[in-house]
Amino acid sequence: MPVLEVQNVAKSYRLPGQKTIPVLEDVSLSVELGEHVAIVGRSGAGKTTLLNILGGLDCPTSGDVRIDGVSLFHGFGAARRRNRVRASKIGFVFQSFHLMPELDIVENVVLPAMTGAVKIASPRTRAKDLLAKVGLSDRMNHLPSELSGGEQQRVALARALMCSPRIVFADEPTGNLDKLTGAEIMKLLFEVSETPFALVMVTHSQEAAALCDRVLTLGHGKLA
Ligand SMILES: Nc1ncnc2c1ncn2[C@@H]1O[C@H](COP(=O)(O)OP(=O)(O)OP(=O)(O)O)[C@@H](O)[C@H]1O
Ligand SMILES: [Mg+2]
Repeated sequence: MPVLEVQNVAKSYRLPGQKTIPVLEDVSLSVELGEHVAIVGRSGAGKTTLLNILGGLDCPTSGDVRIDGVSLFHGFGAARRRNRVRASKIGFVFQSFHLMPELDIVENVVLPAMTGAVKIASPRTRAKDLLAKVGLSDRMNHLPSELSGGEQQRVALARALMCSPRIVFADEPTGNLDKLTGAEIMKLLFEVSETPFALVMVTHSQEAAALCDRVLTLGHGKLA
């Protein structure tokens, strides 16, 4: 069974007093464990909208998403199911890192374990292990604001991997970094985790897309 199954997802926005804007028209996709998929497309094509729906952060207008066979949007109790799946099976990496500014980097990495959805014997030890793997052993008690962009993205990567996710969604993870730093982040993304995961990554970087098994283009509301 694929880790991710996307079935005929559509999404339109409707602003008060204006006509409906269709963003996604009919998106279907299936991704296996260990498979890395890049999604490209022009600005405004709906890439972030799609990724947010796939990760259960936003709802489609119609269609469904299954993660390990579990439906995120259909049936009784979908909202709770979505939260549970998100907390236990999904890791996120964003373009602008989204770290909690008042927490040190160990606390930031521990955060996803706090939902209790995944049992981790010693979360702080695991967080420090992951931070060491991304090369930040000597920065453990620093705040995000004391780190460079590339270093902050390493923290975000460690955080995404904290609960050993089955799937990682990354929205332009190298978008705010120079080429060399972006390449380092991509290498870590592929090498740090001790367990395999499916990756769906939105990117404008040809270098980053070329590292994936499949590159899909989002345009006119569809994936090709
Ligand atoms: N909450 C919203 N309300 C109305 N329209 C929205 C909303 N969010 C996104 N849109 C519209 O949906 C379209 C797709 O936006 P989205 O952010 O998904 O594009 P994108 O492909 O990620 O672009 P970029 O490459 O610039 O990040 C845009 O036209 C945008 O204006
Ligand atoms: Mg976007």
